[in-house]
Amino acid sequence: MARPLKVRDFAPETDSFLQEVITGLRKPVREIPSKFLYDERGSRLFDEITRLDEYYPTRTEIMILQRYIGEIVECIGHGSMLIEYGSGSSEKTRILLNHLPDLAAYVPIDISKEHLTRSAQDIAEKYPHLEVLPVAADYNDSSFRLPSSSKTVSHRVVYYPGSTIGNFHPPEAVAFLRRIAFLCGSGGGLLLGVDLKKDPAILHDAYNDRDGVTAEFNLNLLKRINDELDCDFQLDQWRHRAIYNKEAGRIEMHVVSLCKQAVHLNGAVIEFEEGDSIWTESSYKYTVEEFDTIAARGGFEVEKVWTDPEDLFSVQYLTTSMT
Ligand code: AVI
Repeated sequence: MARPLKVRDFAPETDSFLQEVITGLRKPVREIPSKFLYDERGSRLFDEITRLDEYYPTRTEIMILQRYIGEIVECIGHGSMLIEYGSGSSEKTRILLNHLPDLAAYVPIDISKEHLTRSAQDIAEKYPHLEVLPVAADYNDSSFRLPSSSKTVSHRVVYYPGSTIGNFHPPEAVAFLRRIAFLCGSGGGLLLGVDLKKDPAILHDAYNDRDGVTAEFNLNLLKRINDELDCDFQLDQWRHRAIYNKEAGRIEMHVVSLCKQAVHLNGAVIEFEEGDSIWTESSYKYTVEEFDTIAARGGFEVEKVWTDPEDLFSVQYLTTSMT
């Protein structure tokens, strides 16, 4: 049994779920922020998605990491503090940690304290010589503080895998990168997964799998709203839709109303016609050149890009360009 870990807690106290759902459903184009897809069941369904044949990003990113781990580790350098956005119990984290024996510290950041505590404890047991400093916080807001390491930290490197950066609209992605650049400071780095533009048929299948796991993941959002808020979505009156919007370069995921219906949410009545939809997620795909521009606006320079032979996905190492 590894030493018990101290979790620094900056997780928000008040739940803005209801407020954000109401605000989103009142917009002219109805939407619910995609971060709410990940309750416990949603996270389990997402894990299932990552193992689907059609969902190429996870296995491709792992393949790139395994193939280029020597070069990746060289970019990260010696004595860094590795800060992972997300709870970090994945195969990807372990590939990195296996090859970074002289990290000053490993700092996983996650909004779910329970999930974080479990995965950080797991990492601490597997890597007894590694200083693991978990932080419970919403990495999207910059109000958390990084813990200090007992070792000398040469520089900070943020690890943000999975192409989750694609779930931000480009201006938000730029603002998010700027916050990371500020956190890392000069000499800092960012190891990032970025999904690439490709044949729309491949994208279509990845977000419309034949077993319907992505559909279940999407519709689970309505179930979560019913379970946690005072709401009565009729789940069998909605269907999943994911389409590739070529002009915008993104997959758009929606839930579509199958009939004219009214939904009651905390005393409010929201009317839907047949075919009306709620936008639940965007997943932007970039060319390497397009992402270079996003990175530069976000205060980073792209130092290295690794891809798979089919150019489906990229792993990129960025360094801060601000001082
Ligand atoms: C977490 N994120 C990178 C996934 C994606 O591909 O945009 C979420 C997802 N949505 C449907 N399938 C997977």
